[in-house]
Amino acid sequence: MHTRRIGDVQVSAIGLGAMPMSIEGRPDEARSLATLHAALDAGVTLIDTADAYHRDAGEAGHNETLIAKALASHALGGDVLVATKGGHLRPGDGSWTLDGSPRHLKAACEQSLSRLGVEAIGLYQFHRPDPRVPYAESVGALRELLDEGKIRMAGISNASPAQIRQANEILGGRLVSVQNQFSPAFRSSEPELRLCDELGIAFLPWSPFGGISRAGELGAVHASFARIAEAHGVSAHQVCLAWMLAKSSVVVPIPGASRPETIRDSAAAADLALTAEEIAELDAA
Ligand SMILES: NC(=O)c1ccc[n+]([C@@H]2O[C@H](COP(=O)([O-])OP(=O)(O)OC[C@H]3O[C@@H](n4cnc5c(N)ncnc54)[C@H](OP(=O)(O)O)[C@@H]3O)[C@@H](O)[C@H]2O)c1
Repeated sequence: MHTRRIGDVQVSAIGLGAMPMSIEGRPDEARSLATLHAALDAGVTLIDTADAYHRDAGEAGHNETLIAKALASHALGGDVLVATKGGHLRPGDGSWTLDGSPRHLKAACEQSLSRLGVEAIGLYQFHRPDPRVPYAESVGALRELLDEGKIRMAGISNASPAQIRQANEILGGRLVSVQNQFSPAFRSSEPELRLCDELGIAFLPWSPFGGISRAGELGAVHASFARIAEAHGVSAHQVCLAWMLAKSSVVVPIPGASRPETIRDSAAAADLALTAEEIAELDAA
């Protein structure tokens, strides 16, 4: 599989978003492990997770634990960059709450370290700005975690252009990734993508197909993606990912999956080349 760079690490151009394996509607553990192993077999070396990817109260880190188990039981497990996050919480009623305080982020990082069974987290991302905590304080906690060697690389998520610049400054130029929502239906993160391209920071589009509940409708809702997919004999999902990859060499999509066949299909998008005309049509669609 083609590779891209996050900080000083080469990763597969297509990553895996592991959230669907742990939140509402999740599959049983055997199918999740099969999905994670299928990703590794397909050459995926970036897995995105978060401590908040769980369903019920009291099972924070469900997704991280699953990933640790899958990596430990596969020969290629050691090649993977695990990108996790802190700053969101799930009380167990389906909602997502926030705690961006340095105290919480540091404690959350310790727990992620222990669940992932590593001495340093490959990529630790601040999940979402907490309006009750000054952004500089939350990002300051990431800086301390970097300086203490608890995390190898630092990223942010759900950030504006101003927050990207501010975080990179606080981290002394060590911000390696920005993870924002971006899909055919949600394109308003284009300014953040362009800024990442300018600064050489990886941009990880989240919910690239519009999210778990809408991913199945991608081709039906976006006719251009379906038409170009048919011309290439591939899925509209592959066209969507290839279109994102063509936007900039800093883009690394993280499509979610809970079945081996979907991540295999998505991984193949790394080898799909679209023409300039096709990209222009999708941009305008
Ligand atoms: N930073 C944040 O705030 C934030 C927020 C949301 C998500 N994320 C991250 O972004 C990742 C991706 O987003 P998402 O999971 O919400 O939504 P998504 O990637 O837009 O859609 C996921 C769904 O797409 C289906 N799918 C995947 N590949 C497919 C293919 N090739 N053909 C047909 N269907 C396919 C999967 O179905 P199956 O389940 O049947 O395999 C999966 O449930 C998450 O897993 C998570 O890691 C981050």
